[in-house]
Amino acid sequence: MAAVGSLLVQCLSRSRLLNLKMTALCVCSVGINIAKGHQLMSQHILLSRLHTALFYSNMAPESSIGQMRRQAALGFKTGGDNYDAHRPSYTDESVDLIVSEIVATSEAALGSGLKYDVLELGAGTGKLTERLCKKLPSHLKYLATEPSENFLEVLKSKGLNVDVAIATADRIPLADNTVGTVVCAQSFHWFSSKDNLDSIHRVLTPGGKLILIWNMPEFSYEFMVAFYEQTIEVVKKTGGSVNYLINFMDWRKDIDVSEDFKLLWHRSLTGIKIQGDIEEILSNHATGSAYKLLPAAECDAYIDQLRQILKTWPGLNLNNITIPHTTELFMFTAQ
Ligand SMILES: C[S@@+](CC[C@H](N)C(=O)[O-])C[C@H]1O[C@@H](n2cnc3c(N)ncnc32)[C@H](O)[C@@H]1O
Repeated sequence: MAAVGSLLVQCLSRSRLLNLKMTALCVCSVGINIAKGHQLMSQHILLSRLHTALFYSNMAPESSIGQMRRQAALGFKTGGDNYDAHRPSYTDESVDLIVSEIVATSEAALGSGLKYDVLELGAGTGKLTERLCKKLPSHLKYLATEPSENFLEVLKSKGLNVDVAIATADRIPLADNTVGTVVCAQSFHWFSSKDNLDSIHRVLTPGGKLILIWNMPEFSYEFMVAFYEQTIEVVKKTGGSVNYLINFMDWRKDIDVSEDFKLLWHRSLTGIKIQGDIEEILSNHATGSAYKLLPAAECDAYIDQLRQILKTWPGLNLNNITIPHTTELFMFTAQ
């Protein structure tokens, strides 16, 4: 027990942003448990509790928030429940591809001291997190990070087998070379700059993977053009930049010339279908971050414009509208 105690002290003194309150609680509860003799904790259990304590003591959540674009910071600040209810999930095919890359990368990195097999950036309410967790081997370690406290609360409520942290891509609360695969679902376009790439590269093990995935609506109905044009108008009106829209491909600018990342492959796969009545389709559209920056009445007026377009669209069954998507999946390796 003395050895474990000394390990505890060593580890705690290594922690750079030590939260003394957390430490005191941890040491205290360990002491009480030992003294009472009610529980014979194995070293393994003690160390995993220690890991949790260190994890939080290493990263006061506020201090991990760095740079964010205004539209993202405000647009994803609240409304996590609504986002989770109306945004689409990811197809089995894409989830299986991601899972097999994560597993292969972790196997190749065995013995290199990974702290996490998976680091998810911009995990939001956990739409991809929950899909991956169901299929990944349970011994793999997964850290889901997200800057919005509100969104992260929804993710936490799902009770997944993951650690969580409030963090932006530029301030990842992990040591160098400690992550096997970084996953960004519907999020990389928000933090694709060189500084963020440096930050991602710093934590990835050499040969680690960076996986990017997006659900992109297909323009199979012409009314989708009206939806898209309105989004551009709302982005401009709320002071955002249309360059950050995924299909402007601005996100490729820095990674394509980066010497730190090499594109292994890109696939355009058959994606999910958003299906529902007219109100469901409109609710999905209204989860766009730019719409959240509008005063409520103005947002309603915009959505009502789209409602009128759908209501008068020839031959459209308003009780059952389907919007097909393409899944864009990119696999990069860290060099
Ligand atoms: C469209 S949501 C995607 C959420 C989730 N991954 C999904 O698949 O539904 C984009 C997420 O990126 C996060 N985000 C925006 N800027 C970020 C940054 N600089 N660093 C990390 N995450 C960021 C937002 O808070 C938001 O949760």
